Amino acid sequence: MASSSLRLSLALLAIVSVVLSQPLPSSFPAVYSNQPTGDYSPAWQEYFEVTEPLPNVSFPLPRSFAGNIDVQRAGHPNNTLFFWALETQTGSLTTNSSNEPWGIWLNGGPGSSSMVGFFLENGPIRIAADGTISPNNYSWHTVADFIWIDQPVGTGFATADAAGYIADEDQMGADFMGFLENLVKVFPSLATRPLYLTGESYAGVYIPYIMKTYFSMANPPVNIAKIAIGDASIANGQVFELLPALNVIETYPQLIGYDPAVYNYFKEQEHLCGFDINLTYPQDGIIPTVNFIDALDRDVPFFEKKKMAKRGLVAEINQRYAELEPAERDETARRRERGSWKRDLSLRANGTLDPWYGCALLPEFVDYAVNYSAPWNITQDFNVYDITDPDGSPSLSGTFLNDPRTIAALHAPTSQPWEETFEYVFGDLENDPSPEPMVFLTEFATNATAHNISVILYSGNDDSLIAHRGTEVTIQNTTFGGIQGFTRKPSTLWSDDTGKPSGIIHQERGWTYVLFNGTGHLVAAKTPVAALTFVREFVFGANMTGSVIKTPAGTDMVVGGENSPLFDDVLPGSEGIIYDAGTATSTFIYPAETIVAWNTFIRGGSATPVAQTAVEANTAWRATPCLLIAPILTGVLSLACLWLL
Ligand SMILES: *[C@@H]1O[C@H](CO)[C@@H](O)[C@H](O)[C@H]1NC(C)=O
Ligand SMILES: *[C@@H]1O[C@H](CO)[C@@H](O)[C@H](O)[C@H]1NC(C)=O
Ligand SMILES: *[C@@H]1O[C@H](CO)[C@@H](O)[C@H](O)[C@H]1NC(C)=O
Ligand SMILES: *[C@@H]1O[C@H](CO)[C@@H](O)[C@H](O)[C@H]1NC(C)=O
Ligand SMILES: *[C@@H]1O[C@H](CO)[C@@H](O)[C@H](O)[C@H]1NC(C)=O
Ligand SMILES: *[C@@H]1O[C@H](CO)[C@@H](O)[C@H](O)[C@H]1NC(C)=O
Ligand SMILES: *[C@@H]1O[C@H](CO)[C@@H](O)[C@H](O)[C@H]1NC(C)=O
Ligand SMILES: *[C@@H]1O[C@H](CO)[C@@H](O)[C@H](O)[C@H]1NC(C)=O
Ligand SMILES: *[C@@H]1O[C@H](CO)[C@@H](O)[C@H](O)[C@H]1NC(C)=O
Ligand SMILES: *[C@@H]1O[C@H](CO)[C@@H](O)[C@H](O)[C@H]1NC(C)=O
Ligand SMILES: *[C@@H]1O[C@H](CO)[C@@H](O)[C@H](O)[C@H]1NC(C)=O
Ligand SMILES: *[C@@H]1O[C@H](CO)[C@@H](O)[C@H](O)[C@H]1NC(C)=O
Repeated sequence: MASSSLRLSLALLAIVSVVLSQPLPSSFPAVYSNQPTGDYSPAWQEYFEVTEPLPNVSFPLPRSFAGNIDVQRAGHPNNTLFFWALETQTGSLTTNSSNEPWGIWLNGGPGSSSMVGFFLENGPIRIAADGTISPNNYSWHTVADFIWIDQPVGTGFATADAAGYIADEDQMGADFMGFLENLVKVFPSLATRPLYLTGESYAGVYIPYIMKTYFSMANPPVNIAKIAIGDASIANGQVFELLPALNVIETYPQLIGYDPAVYNYFKEQEHLCGFDINLTYPQDGIIPTVNFIDALDRDVPFFEKKKMAKRGLVAEINQRYAELEPAERDETARRRERGSWKRDLSLRANGTLDPWYGCALLPEFVDYAVNYSAPWNITQDFNVYDITDPDGSPSLSGTFLNDPRTIAALHAPTSQPWEETFEYVFGDLENDPSPEPMVFLTEFATNATAHNISVILYSGNDDSLIAHRGTEVTIQNTTFGGIQGFTRKPSTLWSDDTGKPSGIIHQERGWTYVLFNGTGHLVAAKTPVAALTFVREFVFGANMTGSVIKTPAGTDMVVGGENSPLFDDVLPGSEGIIYDAGTATSTFIYPAETIVAWNTFIRGGSATPVAQTAVEANTAWRATPCLLIAPILTGVLSLACLWLL
């Protein structure tokens, strides 16, 4: 249902408008029986150990430890973070004599609980949209001791008093270090073992700020070896969210019905917005700041409050639909309207931005798809997190985590219910007041190189909210190892443990970029095998695939080779788009002749009317029931189908 996914604001940049009609919430950790007294110490291990069964979990889990730990913020004794630590082998976390690596996972938001990652992505328990619980054999704890942490204070099961929310990202970093200092008192070996800090989305803000705090400490409590961030919001909003719009359309031309005229229109808008940044390898000079050009013609201050908020976007689309006359709502009328929208375009002077959208090109192509491009429509939600699955916006219901048995087993707080997204991360501030990490990324990279810390940025190719193009701009705009950006364009293929092609990898001077094929914002959700291969080989391992190395003759070569078809900055997406038809789930594929005509157009650059005619003429599209294709296509589609059925 569209309505259920509207509630969702996972992982992202929901810029939350806080209406202070009521006081901010206040929460505190619960005290369970046999809580040790005094400072944190290994005596707390027994207290934190998860010994009670979890409801509906009928399969074995590794030994684990969970609960709240104080962040040591003066005057705020109830400020804690929540952790759930899983052992890779029984005793591996509690031993005092280990040099083995360990990992941390952080979701984003701001305000997304890392339980979202645990249950939808990379933990050992999967909770499906209908609440069904099943094992995930590709949990990241199988690689190393792994800890999922709810933070900043107040998020998920983390607690804070009403005056204790973070004022900015530097305070977030200080809280995180205060927490870690206590955590290593409980598990002493973690103080020296190499730490691999991983996360996703808005963790693209958290992790660089955590590192900034870490680098400023004379004696940090842990020993960080690498960081890895997926679909990261490191740059400013217009760069990671709006600038990639044309690249997303090139990946999924279904969004514009494979229509060359509409493509040319968006290409022109991209240029007018300054989004057509030309990356070079290596990059020559700082890429100038891209400013956001707002719409002129809005009757409401739409982009003022909502330019980055997916909820606002879809809400507006739905409201506009509700306002249409019934006769305007049917598909034939919509197609007629597309004709007139395009006629309007041809009347408009070249070189002008659409005054209704300005440079909000993501909302514009979402609108376009929902208005005119099958299988999207106003009743099928648009899923910005995964283009291929319009109605499949990820969401973790609170049923499992708010069950009293789960809360007691995890030693979680009882003072406030668990929520997927917490709205008051910055207290009564509407927005994160800290500048985006892009502004200090070269300084961060210099610090990272000096500490021998590697950096991995990865992306899911089907994510349209934080699409990979913005990450490539971020990397090319950063100097690491004395050179700005990569010296060669990422184009090396890699495969998962089953041999399935899993996308592109590139590694230079301690920085790694990975583009995952066939998955969206929540990378491990759809491609858990590839995600586990990635974590083992490239995060915890030192696999050289994609590395630029010197040959004995002194020339550069890339391990695993380079592939010219991938030199276009676009990894073509799948042909099928999943949609709901009644109670069933189907896959929508445009007619073959439409796709052929598009490919001719996009390679040759000439807009033939063929593709358009083909789209218009084929109102009956090919719909394949999901259950039939599921056994044929491994992994990707079948999993999505299971979610939707
Ligand atoms: C680890 O060392 C602590 C003291 O620092 C001790 O209390 C604990 O029993 C030791 N644990 C093991 C498994 O040896
Ligand atoms: C997960 O592993 C168990 C035990 O090895 C096996 O029975 C099950 O089929 C596996 N599930 C999947 C989805 O691979
Ligand atoms: C901290 O939590 C306790 C309950 O454990 C509560 O009595 C106290 O008022 C809280 N402190 C603040 C500053 O909110
Ligand atoms: C870099 O390290 C210095 C300490 O050497 C620290 O003061 C500074 O905040 C760090 N900056 C970043 C962005 O990591
Ligand atoms: C990128 O290159 C194209 C084609 O050469 C050019 O039209 C465009 O202005 C360039 N973009 C920028 C931001 O310089
Ligand atoms: C490039 O980095 C600089 C800081 O070095 C920043 O000010 C600028 O906004 C960045 N450009 C883009 C397009 O992100
Ligand atoms: C720009 O002008 C050309 C003709 O010069 C026309 O074909 C094209 O449709 C115009 N583009 C837009 C977006 O109006
Ligand atoms: C989509 O349709 C609405 C009317 O429901 C219209 O206001 C809007 O301009 C259209 N947007 C695009 C990009 O076609
Ligand atoms: C356990 O499963 C039952 C039956 O599917 C369901 O009704 C219940 O909500 C589930 N409870 C939890 C905590 O997941
Ligand atoms: C590196 O990782 C790739 C996965 O793409 C794998 O096929 C290959 O065997 C690994 N190489 C080594 C030396 O382990
Ligand atoms: C992406 O996935 C598709 C479908 O599985 C496959 O045909 C293609 O080779 C993959 N591409 C890459 C670069 O991994
Ligand atoms: C939207 O698409 C679905 C699936 O094709 C269809 O059942 C529904 O009637 C469509 N809604 C509208 C308003 O066209």
